[in-house]
Amino acid sequence: MKNLLKLMDLSEKEIVEILNTADQLKFEKKNGIPHRLLEGKTLGLIFAKSSTRTRVSFEVGMFDLGGMSLFLSSRDLQIGRGEIVQDTARVLSRYLDGIMIRTFDQREVEALAEFGTIPIINGLTDYCHPCQVLADLMTIREYKGNFKGRKLCYVGDGNNMTNSLIVGGIKLGMEVSVACPEGYEPDADIMKWAYANGKFSCSPDVLEMAKNSDVLYTDVWASMGQEGEAEQRKKVFKSYQINDKVLEVSRSDAMVLHCLPAHREEEITSKVFEAHSREIFDEAENRLHAQKAVLVKCLL
Ligand code: CP
Ligand code: NVA
Repeated sequence: MKNLLKLMDLSEKEIVEILNTADQLKFEKKNGIPHRLLEGKTLGLIFAKSSTRTRVSFEVGMFDLGGMSLFLSSRDLQIGRGEIVQDTARVLSRYLDGIMIRTFDQREVEALAEFGTIPIINGLTDYCHPCQVLADLMTIREYKGNFKGRKLCYVGDGNNMTNSLIVGGIKLGMEVSVACPEGYEPDADIMKWAYANGKFSCSPDVLEMAKNSDVLYTDVWASMGQEGEAEQRKKVFKSYQINDKVLEVSRSDAMVLHCLPAHREEEITSKVFEAHSREIFDEAENRLHAQKAVLVKCLL
């Protein structure tokens, strides 16, 4: 695998291979078995947005794999003063073995991959968040054992998380439903693809979409970069919350996932969050194992 720009670029087989590698690396980490597969390799981490999980999982991941990482805030890079991404890509390709980038525009990530000669990993854009969804799929498999025929329901804004969850879920044979207000649907091309390639539905009716779900998923109502819309979004998304009523219509053994950070009493109640904190924090931990698997696939 050369890059991880978006999940649409991967086949089901490639996704499953990443998940298998992640399981193996998790087992080895838990049992103190070293796996310095990227000895001497360097990874640049470019961040134009905040991060807790993505930054720490990639930094610790590179350390565990025997390599090293450099945190590069785009505020401090010349990119923040207007140096174009095409030049940045060509320069950084001379120093590093790989780049993880978190930014706004997906086209910036694609341009890095086009002009650079080293693997590029998408650590979140406004369009998608493939690294998170690999960890989510890993967690779903840990809890449920399989994907085929399972139903995943996403409640909330049709954002970067939703786009990647639809692609990852459908590619692995899950049924995916999205409950979102009109005008806040996921990417139109991704929805078209999902309708044509699997069992997919999208509607403003939360309880209808959540019916018989095995996995309930939500994310913030206002993503990074949408802070100015936060107050207006609170009104629009008021009823798009994972709460007891949503759990009642789901399967009795439904799991609840959240990519984090969470806003309690907005997209999820404190009660549901705490009742499902085991799977939510397993999911957060799995970022580390899944990101290491991506690094091994791209950099080895
Ligand atoms: N879920 C996630 O990507 O978290 P961070 O924004 O903290 O990296
Ligand atoms: N949709 C959120 C995801 C954070 C991990 C955002 O983009 O801010």
